[in-house]
Amino acid sequence: MFRKRFGAGMDRMPDFAFKMMSLMFKFRDRFFPQDRVLDEFGIQDGQVVVDYGCGPGSYIGRASKLVGAKGKVFAVDIHELAIDAINKKIAKENLNNVSGVVAKNGKCPLDNDTANLVFALDMFHMVSDSTLFLKGLNRIIKPDGVLFIDNGHQPRKQAKTKILASVAWDIVEENDRYMKCKPTK
Ligand SMILES: C[S@@+](CC[C@H](N)C(=O)[O-])C[C@H]1O[C@@H](n2cnc3c(N)ncnc32)[C@H](O)[C@@H]1O
Repeated sequence: MFRKRFGAGMDRMPDFAFKMMSLMFKFRDRFFPQDRVLDEFGIQDGQVVVDYGCGPGSYIGRASKLVGAKGKVFAVDIHELAIDAINKKIAKENLNNVSGVVAKNGKCPLDNDTANLVFALDMFHMVSDSTLFLKGLNRIIKPDGVLFIDNGHQPRKQAKTKILASVAWDIVEENDRYMKCKPTK
């Protein structure tokens, strides 16, 4: 019941759960900001970066700064409320290099080979068809691009099994917070 209400394995969260989560993240980001992890990803000026499963946008300010004026950040989420929040943040913080993108029915409208780097944080546990999801990320990444993905709320072993079963990504590095993957294409 709790898992269903709060989104595990069901992709799109109920609106109420999304609003509750956004409130919790406001508190989290104020007292325990998460976005400095992006500094470890090697994001370069001018790159195209995708924040996949962006939620209310805890990472977009830092991502915007790291890619700079010539770069681009796509903040993708399956939930329209997330993209509403992203659009508000873009306007409020003048994040001119960020665009919110709705992945309707789990389908991301970005073109093939768009991104230098994709990060998908605290969301992998919500994805119901992990192979379809990971193949979708493989489609939008450039051949020399990288994916940073964390476990979400599932054991590392389970997350790794899903990644390897997709045959879309090789795990090239990992630490206790995330895995770095390269596309198999
Ligand atoms: C727990 S929130 C985390 C948000 C953000 N990544 C963070 O760490 O602050 C997970 C987000 O992933 C989104 N999500 C879940 N499944 C998705 C999918 N298949 N495609 C895109 N977004 C998805 C949810 O709508 C939700 O906004």
